[in-house]
Amino acid sequence: MQVFHTVNGLRDILRKHRNSEQSIGFVPTMGNLHDGHLALIKQAKETNDIVVCSIFVNALQFGLNEDWDKYPRTYDSDCKKLEEAGCNYLFYPDDSEMYPNGLDTQSRVICPTMTDVLCGASRPGHFEGVTTVVSKLFNIVQPDEAIFGIKDYQQLAVIKRMTEDLCLPVKITPAPIHREADGLAMSSRNSYITEDERPKVKVLKEVLELIAQQIKAGNLGFIKLELEAKKRIEFEGFKADYVTVSNSKTLQPAAVDDRQITILGAMYTESARLIDNVSITLD
Ligand code: PAJ
Repeated sequence: MQVFHTVNGLRDILRKHRNSEQSIGFVPTMGNLHDGHLALIKQAKETNDIVVCSIFVNALQFGLNEDWDKYPRTYDSDCKKLEEAGCNYLFYPDDSEMYPNGLDTQSRVICPTMTDVLCGASRPGHFEGVTTVVSKLFNIVQPDEAIFGIKDYQQLAVIKRMTEDLCLPVKITPAPIHREADGLAMSSRNSYITEDERPKVKVLKEVLELIAQQIKAGNLGFIKLELEAKKRIEFEGFKADYVTVSNSKTLQPAAVDDRQITILGAMYTESARLIDNVSITLD
């Protein structure tokens, strides 16, 4: 695997592949790679000739009091894992390569309404940071296909929408959620979970699945289901941020006649913010 720190270096090599009609698959990440990330690389390899991964801990998508400075940075082991997974190129820029004019004056990509709800409500500016960096990365890599995890459901939905709205020539492909043995969705932020909290954090997935079962059984009292789920999260000692039954495409609260439904949840442990989701299709 070859590593590039500059936009021009990566572009030069990718141009050669594009000129010989090889397809390029792309997996953007913030590093600290786990099996969930590596599954995305493997998925990209199945459908493309060349796979590019990026590692960039994007300050633009972190709030002022969030964990940008303590976000786990594990470059050496990440490289080893990417090599083993068969990644061809790693793009590993520093802040000045990605934001040469500084963060404050950087042009932004805004995707209205979908970014104000759920995680966007408690993390103002977060999705603007994501859409801005992802559109920059798309322009740098110019991939045929980019893979995003369903684990970050709202991020995937926002990126699909941005790609459609801006006519970006990139196919956005979802990848299934990779989980630990007890069902906890893998995440770089799981390292913030304490030993005491660890056996109890599976409650997030459990309440989302319970809601899914209830809805499938015909219970359409979404608000009551959401409240009960939050109570169970709080009972386990965590702070519930949101649990919502949403329309899978628009992410607005689901209507009783919606057929594609996604139940999304977020909760705080002492030092982590965890998210998860479950999607169902009704007949
Ligand atoms: P990061 O959190 O590193 O995630 C990179 C990609 O891996 C995202 O598409 C995410 O959804 C996916 N992913 C993470 N955990 C997963 C799991 N357990 N199962 C399946 N896929 C999983 O998401 C970001 O970085 C950033 O916001 C980024 C898109 C790179 C923009 O900065």
